[in-house]
Amino acid sequence: MSKLNVLLLGSGGREHALAWKLSLSDRLNRLFVAPGNPGTARIAENLPLNPLDFAALRDAIVQHRIDMVVVGPEEPLVRGLHDFLRADAQTRHLMVIGPRQQASMLEGSKGFAKAFMQRHGIPTARYGTFTPETAQQARAFMRDLHPPFVLKADGLAAGKGVIIEPSYDRACLALDTLLGGQFGQASQTVVIEEFMHGIELSAFVLTDGSAYLMLPEAKDYKRVGDADTGPNTGGMGAVSPVPFATPEFMGKVEQRIVRPTIEGLQAEGIPYTGFLFVGLMNVGGDPFVVEYNVRMGDPETEVVMPRIKSDLLPLLERCACGQLHDAQLEVDGQTATTVILVSEGYPGSYPKGLPISGAEHDAPGAMLFHAGTALSAGQLVTSGGRVMACTALAPTREAALALSYGAASQVQFQGKRYRSDIGFDLNAH
Ligand code: AMP
Ligand code: GLY
Repeated sequence: MSKLNVLLLGSGGREHALAWKLSLSDRLNRLFVAPGNPGTARIAENLPLNPLDFAALRDAIVQHRIDMVVVGPEEPLVRGLHDFLRADAQTRHLMVIGPRQQASMLEGSKGFAKAFMQRHGIPTARYGTFTPETAQQARAFMRDLHPPFVLKADGLAAGKGVIIEPSYDRACLALDTLLGGQFGQASQTVVIEEFMHGIELSAFVLTDGSAYLMLPEAKDYKRVGDADTGPNTGGMGAVSPVPFATPEFMGKVEQRIVRPTIEGLQAEGIPYTGFLFVGLMNVGGDPFVVEYNVRMGDPETEVVMPRIKSDLLPLLERCACGQLHDAQLEVDGQTATTVILVSEGYPGSYPKGLPISGAEHDAPGAMLFHAGTALSAGQLVTSGGRVMACTALAPTREAALALSYGAASQVQFQGKRYRSDIGFDLNAH
């Protein structure tokens, strides 16, 4: 069989980690990343294309004889990229990793996801869905809940659409702001749900819509400050495996959540091809869904990919062709950790264009996955809030963290920030 030309979409640490894993494949001919970053440029061919410019993507796919498109971020999927490529005669036979628009609603609409879970008996927080016309009912619904109150914009809001308020009065103000158009169309509908007390983790599945493979789980650190203080971010670090994700707990995740999700999609005639990310809360040993995402997580991918021993590309081929049922996944039992270097001010406003040094080579025993970096006249500079993921794989969590933190201190740029406690809370579990 001839080898494959692959186009990966996206430009963050997740995409650098995916590109790294794909670049090791025996099945790979050429790897393109659009738009990619200076990290992916070292191992693949970057194409200066916007993943939301579907027509330009189609032309590049034809020009470079692409066999498979792997979609990193959610937005192209929620906007219907997979459907667009299926509908075009020139790209109809392409393999696409990432679901069609209908299934992407699992991430694109919180209300759709909650109603889907309710229809299929999948454990998640009790909820209600409200619009400006039903704001009065929303307040009555919240009167019945215990604080804190969780309010979510229904649509995509760049990770900022979840508001958690400690009091009823503040929750009512947040409701008015959301329904008043804080996130435009995305918050014209608001989901209000019960607050779940527990510890979070992320489960990952690769599915062809019928069969599935459970990928290694991970724990993400969302708050900007040590000891989980300060505002939420895209993610400040991650660890895999997660000590409290015991075989018994992951068995419950598979039986109660993953299997009913795949079977529910099938029963409703909704095809699914690609990664499914299930954000989970461990509530006293029982898993509940916080959210679905129709893609891999970032920074979780930076610890999940190093733990996958199998060649990823043949698995993606099987996924795209509906042949995952007899696939096997070999997982490395070691621990992977990643520490994210961020710009001063993140997740608020931050400077860009600051020179980065110490990233010319990977640090000893570690891998540097680029996130918000750019090249300016040949100099590597910062270009985003999350700048780089310092990843390591080692026999123990302590050893992996020592290597990740070694890399974190080697890379230098003005205002560099990172959490110093990634993974330490897990010692208690
Ligand atoms: P989401 O975008 O739905 O993942 O929500 C962002 C974050 O808000 C989650 O990672 C949780 O930390 C928190 N969160 C969302 N929903 C709940 C809930 N029902 N109970 C407790 N925390 C929640
Ligand atoms: N790390 C969380 C996410 O990718 O949504």
